[in-house]
Amino acid sequence: MLKLLSGEILNKKTECLVVPVCEDAEIHDDSAIIGLIKNAKKIKEFNGKKGESLIFYDSANSKSERVLFVGLGKLEKIDAEALRSFAGKIVKQLIEKELTEAIICAPSLLKSDLKADASLGAILEGAFLGNHIFDKYKKDKKAKPLKIVSVFTDSKIAKSCRLLPSRIETICKGTVLAREWVSMPSNDKRPDRFVRSMVKAAEKEDLSFSILDEKSLKQNGMGAILAVGVGSRSKPRLLILDYNPYKNKKSPKKKKTIVLVGKGVTFDTGGISLKPSAGMAEMKMDMSGAASVAATLITLARLKHKFRVVGVIPVVENMPSGDATRPGDIIKSYSGKTIEIGNTDAEGRLILADAMSYANKMFKPDVMVDMATLTGACIVALGDKIAGVFSTDEKLAKDIVESGDAVSEKCWAMPMPDDYKPLLKSEFADINNMSSTRYGGAITAALFLSEFVEKTSWAHIDIAGPAYSKTGGDYCGAGGTGFGVRLLIDFLNKM
Ligand code: BES
Ligand code: MG
Ligand code: ZN
Repeated sequence: MLKLLSGEILNKKTECLVVPVCEDAEIHDDSAIIGLIKNAKKIKEFNGKKGESLIFYDSANSKSERVLFVGLGKLEKIDAEALRSFAGKIVKQLIEKELTEAIICAPSLLKSDLKADASLGAILEGAFLGNHIFDKYKKDKKAKPLKIVSVFTDSKIAKSCRLLPSRIETICKGTVLAREWVSMPSNDKRPDRFVRSMVKAAEKEDLSFSILDEKSLKQNGMGAILAVGVGSRSKPRLLILDYNPYKNKKSPKKKKTIVLVGKGVTFDTGGISLKPSAGMAEMKMDMSGAASVAATLITLARLKHKFRVVGVIPVVENMPSGDATRPGDIIKSYSGKTIEIGNTDAEGRLILADAMSYANKMFKPDVMVDMATLTGACIVALGDKIAGVFSTDEKLAKDIVESGDAVSEKCWAMPMPDDYKPLLKSEFADINNMSSTRYGGAITAALFLSEFVEKTSWAHIDIAGPAYSKTGGDYCGAGGTGFGVRLLIDFLNKM
């Protein structure tokens, strides 16, 4: 779907040539493009201001059916995210016009800290992600995604970046895969089916997998996962996806293993501590951590990533029923610690607790990262576009925040003060799954998790806000955002 193109721009046949224009600077160095812009700016209502656009249908100069000029605003404001948004918005507009392909002219004279491959990459990403439409459940599929988006750049850059389009496409396919899982209604992704769907995708790649079903969860003593899943007719599972490039080699010099844990609550009613009905439908997204972790593993396999990464994904449906866990119940976790269930709606930390101590024991990872739509409190703290990062390893938190900045999946490091730990005290068990105060709920949730991580360097990413978008954004439709896939890939790459 993505291509790079160079040569004589006026000779390119296309349904639409897209030319981004800056209001206070020339951002192209191709003289033909500069000529087109000069013409466009003769029209007095077009100056390249942000949000302005101008379309020429009959351009005597070029072979394209249309030339669409798009204002990007001031040069100073143009960063990678601005380009991603620009490309995404344009692709959405072209889809509305029922076009099938287009050429976007990449600007080449941007701020000095925005390198050619980064700006090209951002445009390619925005275009691919903006082209995704979730309409599986509609009889009339009105919009058709574009078949090809070509990005025009000079021949030198096109050559040095020739591998970029396929790499971006692979990564963005991962994001789209996660989006589709998250947007899927919960009646089509109950635990058994969701696990099968993840396995089906994994089987096509160089990934091995194993599944612990209800019986083996019982045999292993995973009381926390079982307690959350017991109220549902569709029983819990623990899925392991293993990407291991060492397995065919004799003995690599340095083996490194990273574990990614993803919260997979296919629907969160809250259980007996039932949620209010307003907004409950959105709780189909409570498996977003699982979706992003599974999609990341699939993407790593496609990219032939260098070291071993294991996905550990607990999958449950949190339902009230005659068999459901009650507030006040005490359960025994895989770690041996007992947990008093103060609130059945604080279920994410329970399934993660078992998954993480199991992962620690089985894989002895160098680093463990969990991703979860864990708390509403994190959305209260950071809003719905920024994820919270919790870690006792400052360097690890910093690396994650930096990767978030690099791909514009924003993260913010949050504190984990030891003196909040007593808030999780239980009179009768080793720990309570609910804090005695509602303040700092994202922090107390993270502190709960920390009790189930042994020596390993570990970080927790609370994606309750950014995993789902009611309205959609510039390069994302309404529903699952796939947040976390690009972040984790960038983070693992830099490792
Ligand atoms: N799945 C929710 C968290 C959530 C809320 C995700 C909003 C996305 C949007 C989680 O299981 C939950 O219910 N958390 C409770 C914890 C509380 C009972 C301690 C919460 O945040 O209120
Ligand atoms: Mg809950
Ligand atoms: Zn939940």
